[in-house]
Amino acid sequence: MPKTLSKFTCQNCGYVSPRWTGKCSNCNEWNTFVEEITSSSQKKSSHHLKETANIVSLDKVDVEETERIKTNIEEFDRVLGGGIVPGSVILVGGDPGIGKSTLMMQFAGALKEETVLYITGEESLKQVRLRSERLGMSSMKNIFLLAETNMEIISALLNEHLPRVVVVDSIQTMYYSQMESPAGSVGQVRESTAAFTKFAKNNNIPVFLVGHVTKEGLIAGPKVIEHIVDTVLQFEGDNHYSYRILRAMKNRFGSTNEIGIFEMRDVGLREVKNPSEVFLSERKFGNAGSAVVATIEGTRPILVEVQALVTSTSYNIPQRNATGFDLRRLAMLLAVLEKRVGLKLGTYDVFVNVAGGIRIDEPASDLGIASSIVSSLRDKAIDAQSVAIGEVGLGGEIRTVSQIERRVQEAAKLGFKKIIVPKNNLKELRLSGEVEVIGVEGVETAIKELIN
Ligand code: TYD
Ligand code: MG
Repeated sequence: MPKTLSKFTCQNCGYVSPRWTGKCSNCNEWNTFVEEITSSSQKKSSHHLKETANIVSLDKVDVEETERIKTNIEEFDRVLGGGIVPGSVILVGGDPGIGKSTLMMQFAGALKEETVLYITGEESLKQVRLRSERLGMSSMKNIFLLAETNMEIISALLNEHLPRVVVVDSIQTMYYSQMESPAGSVGQVRESTAAFTKFAKNNNIPVFLVGHVTKEGLIAGPKVIEHIVDTVLQFEGDNHYSYRILRAMKNRFGSTNEIGIFEMRDVGLREVKNPSEVFLSERKFGNAGSAVVATIEGTRPILVEVQALVTSTSYNIPQRNATGFDLRRLAMLLAVLEKRVGLKLGTYDVFVNVAGGIRIDEPASDLGIASSIVSSLRDKAIDAQSVAIGEVGLGGEIRTVSQIERRVQEAAKLGFKKIIVPKNNLKELRLSGEVEVIGVEGVETAIKELIN
C-alpha cells in the first residue's frame, strides 16, 4: 500500500477522512472537505520552532522600518503604502484579461536592477516573451522566467536561487503532486500559498501572487488565502474601457484607501496622474442629464462626470439601471426625489452611468446623481461650470461630507466656477475669490442652484 500523503479535513468540524466525500459523516454538512498535506509528509523542523519561539517585552520590540523596495511606478507604490515591504506576500486579484500579467511584467521591468523571478503557470515562456516585446522590455536583464506549476520543483529552485522579488502567475495553477485534488482547488491553493509565505518570511523576499476573480467578484480559491497574505490588491476595470484601477483591499503595511489609476494602451499600462481631466475629457457641454461630482479615492480627489437618462417607460415596471453606482442607493435617491421634491418618477425608466468605467461608492456623490436625474427628466442642462457635492439624506437634507476642502480645491483647479456644497461644510472652507461656493441645506434648493 502506498503511503497516503494527504488527508481531507472537514472545514466545519475538523473531522479527518482519508478520501474526499460530499457529506461529512460527523457533522452532516455538505461540501466541507478540503485536502491538506499530512504533517508526516512535511519535514518537521524543531530547529525552526525554537528559533521563532522567543518572548520579548513590548518595549524591546524592534520598530525600525525596513526599507521598502520602490518600483518607481508611482501609482503602484502608493497603493502598496510607499513601496514593497521585503518579506511580504501580496495577492493581486482581478478578472481574467483585465491586465494582471501585464501589470506584473511592467512592475518587474520597473525594478530595473533588482532580480525578479517570474513564475509563469498559465502562459509559456514564448508567450511571456512576446508580451515583453510588446511592452518594449524584452532586453531587460533583471527578469528571469520559470515556466512551472509543480510546487515541489518550484520550492527547490527558489531556495537555490534567491531572487530579490518573486511573481507567481497565477496561484491557481500551482499544485502539489502528492495531493489528489486538482490545481486551483481550495486545498492546493492554500498549501501553495502557505509554502510561498514561508519562503517569503524566511528569506525576506516579497512574493506577488496573481489570482483570478470569479464572476461574482470573489477571488476564487484565493479568497481562502486572503487572511494568510499581507496585502490584497484588486485590479479592476470595465472590459469596454481602457481605464484600470488598482485598489488595496487589505494592507498590513499601509492604508487601504489608496488607488492607482492606469490606462491600458496597446503598448501596456500607462499611469494616469491627472484622473480628473481624464474622467471629464468626453463631457459634452449643454447636455441634459450630465453632472460633475467630486469624489475622493484614498487621499485623492477625482472629478467624474455622471450621466442620467430618464425616459417614459414602456413596461409595467419601470426600469432602474446603474453602471458604476449602487442600484439600491439609486432607488433611495429616486424615492427621496419623489417624496421631497415631488417628482413623479413611477412611469419613467431611469439609467445612471458613471463615465470612464469608474465606480463611485461615496455618498458625497448623491447630490450630483440626483441632480443629473432631475436634469434629464426636465430636459434642462446643468450649469456646465458647476460641481455638486453632498450626501442626500432620507429627509431630503444635504448632509456634510468629509474632506470638503480637497474636493473644492480640485474643482477650482480644473476651472469650475460654481460649487454646491452642504451648508454645514461651509465653515471648514477657506474661500478663495475665484470660485463661488454655495452652501445648501435641502436637495430642492440645491437643484434650483444647479438647473436654471
Ligand atoms: P493580461 O495581462 O494578459 O491579463 P490577465 O493576466 O489579467 O489575464 O492582458 C489582457 C489584455 O490586455 C489582453 O486582452 C490584451 C490587452 N493588452 C493591451 O491592450 N495592451 C498591451 O500592451 C498588453 C500587453 C495587453
Ligand atoms: Mg495573466
